[in-house]
Amino acid sequence: MSKADLIVGIQWGDEGKGKIVDLMAQDYDVVCRYQGGHNAGHTIVVGDKTLALHLIPSGVLNANAINIIGNGVVISPEALIEEMQQFGSLKGRLFISDKAHMILKHHILIDQAREKLRGAKAIGTTGRGIGPAYGSKIERSGHRMGELRDTEKLAQNLIDYFTTYRAIFEAMGIKTPGFDELKAELDMYAKELLIYVEDTTALVWKSLDEQKKVLLEGAQGTLLDIDHGTYPFVTSSSTISSGACIGLGLSPKDIGNVTGIVKAYCTRVGNGPFPTEDFEEDGKKLGKNGHEFGTTTGRPRRCGWFDAVAVKYASRINGCDQLSLMKLDVLDGFDKVKICTAYEIDGKRVETLPQSLENLKPIYEEFDGWNGSKGVDKYEDLPSNAKAYVKKIEEITGTKVGLISTGPDRKETIIL
Ligand code: GDP
Ligand code: IMO
Ligand code: MG
Repeated sequence: MSKADLIVGIQWGDEGKGKIVDLMAQDYDVVCRYQGGHNAGHTIVVGDKTLALHLIPSGVLNANAINIIGNGVVISPEALIEEMQQFGSLKGRLFISDKAHMILKHHILIDQAREKLRGAKAIGTTGRGIGPAYGSKIERSGHRMGELRDTEKLAQNLIDYFTTYRAIFEAMGIKTPGFDELKAELDMYAKELLIYVEDTTALVWKSLDEQKKVLLEGAQGTLLDIDHGTYPFVTSSSTISSGACIGLGLSPKDIGNVTGIVKAYCTRVGNGPFPTEDFEEDGKKLGKNGHEFGTTTGRPRRCGWFDAVAVKYASRINGCDQLSLMKLDVLDGFDKVKICTAYEIDGKRVETLPQSLENLKPIYEEFDGWNGSKGVDKYEDLPSNAKAYVKKIEEITGTKVGLISTGPDRKETIIL
């Protein structure tokens, strides 16, 4: 029996997971998403073609790999159908768990209404209905993809739900659909998607039993994890590696090699604490050079320096065997680059991640910058200061760097 290898985001998402999953997928038979939904935006660049994936696993460009959307993902049937259109038929190449919960239109409206009500305390969600859909799942009023097999019953259950909670929907200014409109919509989802829906846990088990190579693709990042991230400024799923077990129906023993994907600096989109955020010229330069705009919402990402305290924590919680260090080229052209090696809290130096990332000051070590890492594909061709920076990251985080990315394209990669 083989084990499934795993890719996980180490910071606040957008580390470059899509690039690495696409690159690795060339050698894998099966690629699986296990959590999140279409809040994710995973970019793949091949030559002059750029592809942004939200729900479909980033193995889709490898014609020989099959792609699985596991039970832990929340699926907007509407968004999935739209995303699938660019690929023609994916029959036999895409499998969707019958246990995955659906994001329906009312979830999206609730997400947006709640954000408005939160006012200054808004989380800055992607507005895709993620929190409300996971909320429905946990409070046991959600609906799963397999229920599209009986749309009459599903539509009636939803109408009953809307009726019971009518006062709440009205208070939020949300108009719920009538039976006929809802049934027609669900019928369309069923027609387009049911051929892909099955027991994906059995499929992953069979793949592992047959010694197939299975790759698990995390969405978001460790610091957005519902339990271990910067709560409440997090997403609503378990983004860390152990989330893959729940989100696919695997045991911890099924997990093999774990790769943490980490940017050579740090970004965050949405609200919440970000100790190394740089509001001055350096932050602006990182955003400009790194084209730091959200793949899903187009929002500018907040930018700052590499936070080694957070990365060390993330590496431990995910059990990372190695890190892929992304976007090193974005640091080209800085006179000095900085790494946060500790925090100052109440005048004391702290080297471990505290419960709250509010009210602390990053303590930095400064290094000489470099030029010319863009596009480099051999370690020996990297500028020596860039090599020293990579070594420092390995040393502080206690995790080796197994890959360095020097540009968005597949070719702009150093394998160590
Ligand atoms: P993901 O959500 O983790 O898959 O990351 P995103 O796709 O949201 O954001 C990463 C962005 O950086 C994408 O636009 C990638 O094409 C781009 N990218 C990935 N690796 C590199 C790199 O090494 N250098 C540069 N300059 N861009 C990169
Ligand atoms: P990928 O997979 C970066 C952020 C949102 C917000 C918080 C909650 O591309 O790395 P949600 O809509 O999930 O309820 O929003 O999480 N967020 C992401 N940030 N990358 C992502 O995905 C994200 N998915 C959600 O900006 O702060
Ligand atoms: Mg992204």
